[in-house]
Amino acid sequence: MRFASPLLFLLATSALAQSPQAQHLIPQPVEIRLDEGQCNLLCPWQVEVSQSASKELFDLLQAELIPLQPPKQMECLLPLRIGFNLIQPDTLLPEEWHMVHVKPDGIGVTATSEAGLFRGSRTLIQLLEQSRESGSLPCLTITDWPRFGWRGMHLDVCRHFFPVEFVKEYIDLLARYKMNRFHWHLTEDQGWRIEIKKYPKLTEIGAWRSGSQVGPYSRREYDSIPFGGYYTQQQIREVVAYAAARHITVVPEIEMPGHAMAALASYPHLGCTGGPYEVQKGWGVFDDVFCAGNDSVFTMLEDVLTEVMELFPGEYLHIGGDECPKERWKTCAKCQARMKSESLKDEHELQSYFIQRIEKFVNSRGRKIIGWDEILEGGLAPNAAVMSWRGTEGGVAAAKQKHNVVMSPGSHCYFDHYQGDPANEPLAFGGYTTLQKVYSYEPIPAELKPEDHKYILGAQGNVWTEYILTPEHVEYMAVPRMLALAEVLWTPKEQRDEKDFIKRLEKEFPRLEKMKVNVSKSLYQVRIVPSQGDSVGLIHIDALAALEGQHTDITWRIYNENGMALGGGGTTDTIDIGRSCTIEARIQTETRAQGKSYPVAVRKFNFNLATARPITLSVPPNERYNEGGAFTLVDGITAQEKRVNTEWLGWRESVTITVDLGSVQDISRIAIGALNETYSWIHMPEAVAFFASSDGKTFTLWGSHQQKTKAGRVAFGVEQAGKVRYVRIAVKHPGTIPEGYPGAGNPAWMFLDEIEVR
Ligand code: ACM
Ligand code: ZN
Repeated sequence: MRFASPLLFLLATSALAQSPQAQHLIPQPVEIRLDEGQCNLLCPWQVEVSQSASKELFDLLQAELIPLQPPKQMECLLPLRIGFNLIQPDTLLPEEWHMVHVKPDGIGVTATSEAGLFRGSRTLIQLLEQSRESGSLPCLTITDWPRFGWRGMHLDVCRHFFPVEFVKEYIDLLARYKMNRFHWHLTEDQGWRIEIKKYPKLTEIGAWRSGSQVGPYSRREYDSIPFGGYYTQQQIREVVAYAAARHITVVPEIEMPGHAMAALASYPHLGCTGGPYEVQKGWGVFDDVFCAGNDSVFTMLEDVLTEVMELFPGEYLHIGGDECPKERWKTCAKCQARMKSESLKDEHELQSYFIQRIEKFVNSRGRKIIGWDEILEGGLAPNAAVMSWRGTEGGVAAAKQKHNVVMSPGSHCYFDHYQGDPANEPLAFGGYTTLQKVYSYEPIPAELKPEDHKYILGAQGNVWTEYILTPEHVEYMAVPRMLALAEVLWTPKEQRDEKDFIKRLEKEFPRLEKMKVNVSKSLYQVRIVPSQGDSVGLIHIDALAALEGQHTDITWRIYNENGMALGGGGTTDTIDIGRSCTIEARIQTETRAQGKSYPVAVRKFNFNLATARPITLSVPPNERYNEGGAFTLVDGITAQEKRVNTEWLGWRESVTITVDLGSVQDISRIAIGALNETYSWIHMPEAVAFFASSDGKTFTLWGSHQQKTKAGRVAFGVEQAGKVRYVRIAVKHPGTIPEGYPGAGNPAWMFLDEIEVR
């Protein structure tokens, strides 16, 4: 019935020539069948939604689809119908099941629920965006449904606060990739971000702090710029409705019993000591928590949760439960009295009492609780779901106990970790979780019996914001890793294909950029990896491209210490250096980026008399911190505070290090760096002794040092003149972590890097 103009004929022929694989969808659907023919998109579109569906859905689809019409329209006798058909529920079909039909005379999405129609509309939007230029879409049938029911993303708005407009944009991103849970982390030590009518001080006082921690954690530096913000209940309702329209459930998190400093600062009588307390400027875990022996704590939390339940209609409330120190409870008369009256044998059971009491209240209102995996300690509340973050063990234990589980292990799901070589990324929390690693994630733990798989509801990506200050930076950390997780959670496991995903992602990047999303291109970052060169004193450098086929596209630039260019050029992936310099490497822009620049990797090499010289260790580093082996200590790279995982070597015992300078030399200094980062259980050496020798047999002590106070990277060294061929450094392990530090009683880590001999 269409009006067939010669123009249309031409367009249709050229579209027919398109590859049948032209659909680049994320997440990949369960089934795509290509049918005969093309659908002409140039006739004016008409969006139709079943009478039985809501007007809200119609309005949203209309508003989103119509702007995707190709700019050039034709005159046609009939419009192009894009129909959304809600059919009878069918218990045999999975929730969110839907079909997308593209036919020569129209487009249809069919589902048994509005959620299914909405998910199908996301597929359709991606298809239509790709067809705007060609003006036609190949006919096809997509049949699709998700692998998991909980496909979540989290956002911490407490360490840094983000405005409602951005929260909605974040929800838009979730919706685009068919995610369906938004975990909103609303209360913390550093800020209470949700208006509670009955307790106004929570936001009058608790939403504001007098400054923020800046820079790497170990530096313990703070600014004094007042920081804060909160969402009014009206704004919360607006966000919840916005998400609901996109079939995303918002899961609010109200932290208890720990991470509660902002609440305690507002109402000090809720803590064991009565305060005063402050909304925290710094990151970490704090000893002051809600008092578990004080009934008014439970009254207050129940009042808070009552208001929260009025605002958030979802099944689950997240009650936190993580990282709750028990120090205050041990010495609090009320907490101890509670333990006695309830016959609780230790403070873990007291935490369990706390959570179970809250659960009983929440259950009595027809809702359920979910908490971080620490809620397993001391006994799980009867109906609670567990969010497994400290690895997968918590999730496995909970599923074995027949409790629902959402997987969110730090190893694969923490998007506050670095996604590229830390040397070339903005400061992050730590860790190293590449896009490919996220994509490789399997949410069902291998050790779980098939009958327990059903307890794994799904997984979610977490975006903690200690080091994330702006919406653009949130986007950078979340995108594209969230897309990888979305596919893990939606697409059947056997259909997952990393190479194919990256190909589709490369088509998605320009669309995201058009939407002004600040995507990370760390995927294309070159890794500059040094190793011992063939000759003593030379460092061999490999530049590794993350993607196959890109290693021949690498270009280099080398600068001396004054920034003068020493050389450069292209297309080799190795190079040898013998002097201090800075190396830049990148994937050539012409070949793949089409005018967009790819990230430049930068590495600074500082040569001294020990660099790239033979080195021996009396005992190897612990296997967990031994990435580059002994060479790491003489690789020309001075480890920085933000790159713990890749640049430092770690021991849990004393070590003696010997370096052969190759010939007797006049030297005046021997030094080595160590890391003091007690919150990560990394302590400074007890002592460092320096020896020198001209024959490798008789060593003379040059000096011994202790350094107790400074945080971060600390250099131990001796200055003395002498003729020396061998230097020896004996580093004494600090032993057990003392009381008052995180991990007290455990063996400390001792991290060393870069020997300096001048
Ligand atoms: C957490 O990362 N503390 C749940
Ligand atoms: Zn107490």
